[in-house]
Amino acid sequence: MGTLDGQVVVFTGAGAGIGRSVVTRFVGEGAKVVAVDISEHVTELADELGHAVLPIVADIATWGGNVVAAQAALDTWGTIDVFVGNAGITDGARPLEDIPGDRLPEAFDQLFGVNVLAPMLGVRACIDALIESHGSIILTGSFASTQAGGGGALYTASKHAVHGLVRQLAFELAPDVRVNGVAPGVAPTRLRGIDALGQTSADSVLDGTERALPTQQIAPVSAYDGVFTMLASRADSAAMTGSMVTVDSGLSIRGIGKPGGRVDIG
Ligand SMILES: NC(=O)c1ccc[n+]([C@@H]2O[C@H](COP(=O)([O-])OP(=O)(O)OC[C@H]3O[C@@H](n4cnc5c(N)ncnc54)[C@H](O)[C@@H]3O)[C@@H](O)[C@H]2O)c1
Repeated sequence: MGTLDGQVVVFTGAGAGIGRSVVTRFVGEGAKVVAVDISEHVTELADELGHAVLPIVADIATWGGNVVAAQAALDTWGTIDVFVGNAGITDGARPLEDIPGDRLPEAFDQLFGVNVLAPMLGVRACIDALIESHGSIILTGSFASTQAGGGGALYTASKHAVHGLVRQLAFELAPDVRVNGVAPGVAPTRLRGIDALGQTSADSVLDGTERALPTQQIAPVSAYDGVFTMLASRADSAAMTGSMVTVDSGLSIRGIGKPGGRVDIG
């Protein structure tokens, strides 16, 4: 018996990083997952995990991409219990003053298209099924959902918006659907950048980051699996809605003089 036995999940940003790790855990816990990503790498999940995963290559910043994903879950397994809006892109922590003004509208549209519009589209596409199943929604926020300096102005504003979306949707959908978020701090992945700014992808972990963390180490991507699993579980998070769970290696309790009370800074 797994924690998520029989649960049907639509999961975006499943092809790499945190999402790929969480999907692997979900399947191990008995879930069936429509795994959505713009990257073809998502198709590898079917080879790795078998029939419990249905990979879909789609751009989730479009309405059509989300409809295809939701319909695939309904056609294949007849229901949707959990929607996870996890796909995201970064601005590479580019300060606003370094973004040419004439590129800013397109850069905004691209980053907000993936980080903010896409989870709205995904929820909208799954909403009838989620209400019927009394299911739940999980959105991936960030340390940047509540703090400055975890990204540039575009990324930080977008992740603050995700926090607002979690709270508003939790209100709108109560009591039928629970809505929560996960706010990671630093995970060793390569997030895509903004095409309009000529960015490709970049390491999410900057040199020296581990020394700034109270935990003094970069946790592996699998460190987020348990929190997503808990939030997807009807039994383990029945009393949670509207919560953004911080999983930030202690970033938000860092000290001024040193990251943690017992950290030796020499
Ligand atoms: N890595 C970190 O340090 C960190 C910190 C805080 C928050 N996050 C958040 O975690 C989430 C997962 O990021 P990750 O670090 O695992 O990065 P990642 O790049 O490894 O995973 C993100 C996935 O989203 C996919 N994606 C991007 N645009 C898409 C689109 N338009 N349509 C469909 N799929 C698309 C990518 O192809 C990729 O597979 C993101 O929301 C990110 O903002 C990451």
